[in-house]
Amino acid sequence: MRVFSGIRASGDKTLGNYSGGFRQYVRTQEEALAASGEAVFCVVDMHSITTPFEPEVLREATLSVFAWLLATGLDPDRSIVFVQSHVPAHSEGAWLLGSVTAMGELRRMTQFKDRAEEQDFVSAGLFNYPVLMAADILLYDTDVVPVGDDQRQHVELTRDLAERFNQRFGETLVVPRGVYPDEGARVKNLQEPERLMSTTRGAPAGVVRLIDEPDVIRKKFKTAVTDSGREVKHDPEEKAGVSNLIEIMAVSTGASIAEIESRYDAQGYGQFKEDVGEAVVALIEPFRRRYNELRADDAELAATMRRGADKAAEISNVTLARMYERMGFVRA
Ligand code: TYM
Repeated sequence: MRVFSGIRASGDKTLGNYSGGFRQYVRTQEEALAASGEAVFCVVDMHSITTPFEPEVLREATLSVFAWLLATGLDPDRSIVFVQSHVPAHSEGAWLLGSVTAMGELRRMTQFKDRAEEQDFVSAGLFNYPVLMAADILLYDTDVVPVGDDQRQHVELTRDLAERFNQRFGETLVVPRGVYPDEGARVKNLQEPERLMSTTRGAPAGVVRLIDEPDVIRKKFKTAVTDSGREVKHDPEEKAGVSNLIEIMAVSTGASIAEIESRYDAQGYGQFKEDVGEAVVALIEPFRRRYNELRADDAELAATMRRGADKAAEISNVTLARMYERMGFVRA
């Protein structure tokens, strides 16, 4: 069993990234190792240049996100943790996969449409984003891709590209499957519960960042938008705000949605919101402490990146060579 996932080097990472990303990475790392498999995780810095960016910000974000991967529980001695641009096979693989990707498929990607709408300058890189993501995944003969719900369409495209490549050139690539969390696959902005929680859009007061101080987090939950009722009930259609808070509570404590509903039955929202805030603080505080420790030694982080890249290259170069071979490139 091989697990692979990636996370962009951008912005401050949020509770949403924890729920759909970090949390699942750690779980699947343990599952893969228990099954004598391998877990591979990557800071996708090359994806970060597909929307407007600043070089200094990219440099800092790459170190930061790498540190968050370790701080939330990935073990670089047991898993492979690396930075995408350190392994050239990713950009080569993306170029090869471009030959089995239709423009129409890329045009249909909702993330492309959303991001393109927000920008004056829409780069070719943004259009090709999903092809690079497919290369990331397919180069590791990946079986399982843990992601949040917003990446579902990209993972489905990856499957289609693998199948198409295999049909055209013979059995070469493993067709992966996405795994999505039962709860918290789409954590919403606390102020605008119809929107995904993200640092790039939506009210900042509704975005919980992993680096936020405890008091900041408490305040964000106290002022979270709910509704005019008083029932703590999971009903995403009618009660988007409350349902989001219930899912966050489930993610933070491991309690089930039914347990949370019955615990807060007819208590109103005040205490509930406060308790969710405390649960999130208790969850995040140890990560934040570990993050700060790791960031005190960026040279050590860079050495860990290097070791991860060497291990990643060993695997991906084999798949890449197989792709070149099957496609008829002369290998000398
Ligand atoms: P990125 O960097 O936007 O997000 C990293 C992970 O966090 C999840 N996520 C969320 N989950 C629940 N609720 C939210 N509000 C929320 N916001 C983000 C994402 O689903 C993701 O799992 N395209 C990918 C990066 C990527 C990748 C890959 C992923 C590149 N190559 C290969 C897997 C495999 C992305 O932009 O993630």
